[in-house]
Amino acid sequence: MSIFLIGFMGCGKSTLGRRLAVLTKSTFIDMDKFIEEKYFKTVNQIFAEEGETEFRKKERLAIEELAGFQDVVVGTGGGAPCFADNMQIMNQSGVTVWLDVPLDELVSRLSKAKAERPLIKEKNNAELTEFVRHKLDERNVYYSQAQIRVTGNNIQAEDITTILAARGH
Ligand code: S3P
Repeated sequence: MSIFLIGFMGCGKSTLGRRLAVLTKSTFIDMDKFIEEKYFKTVNQIFAEEGETEFRKKERLAIEELAGFQDVVVGTGGGAPCFADNMQIMNQSGVTVWLDVPLDELVSRLSKAKAERPLIKEKNNAELTEFVRHKLDERNVYYSQAQIRVTGNNIQAEDITTILAARGH
């Protein structure tokens, strides 16, 4: 069974996903890295040279490909659930887990990790807060389609394995 971690930039999909993969004896795949390796370009380069729409097409193809993998933990990009039928594909091919981290915590983490993220790299702290608030308003409707929602400032991989075990996984 594959696990798709979804949620806003900075919610911990990669850090927590790596640990979750160890706990579940599976392989972790960072979707942004998967795309970067496929096209020999960073996400920043794809956005700058080809635009966001083209990135979303590449992201859609990556989801389709990853949906065919068995027993992997996938850390998706923060926007991935919000385009095309990506959420449906993930829900059909694995367990989806929303890491629902509060706004203030997201902003605090992202203010220190902007450079590799094209949507926020030029923003100052006030702009960043407004951007995250606005995007969460738009995106929560997609994130909330996840089968499992975990909320908090300090979500641990063990919180997820406990929930999965209770659901018989
Ligand atoms: C994006 C999130 C990023 C990356 C791209 C766009 C978004 O992934 O896919 O920069 O739209 O929220 P992370 O959530 O891993 O930062």
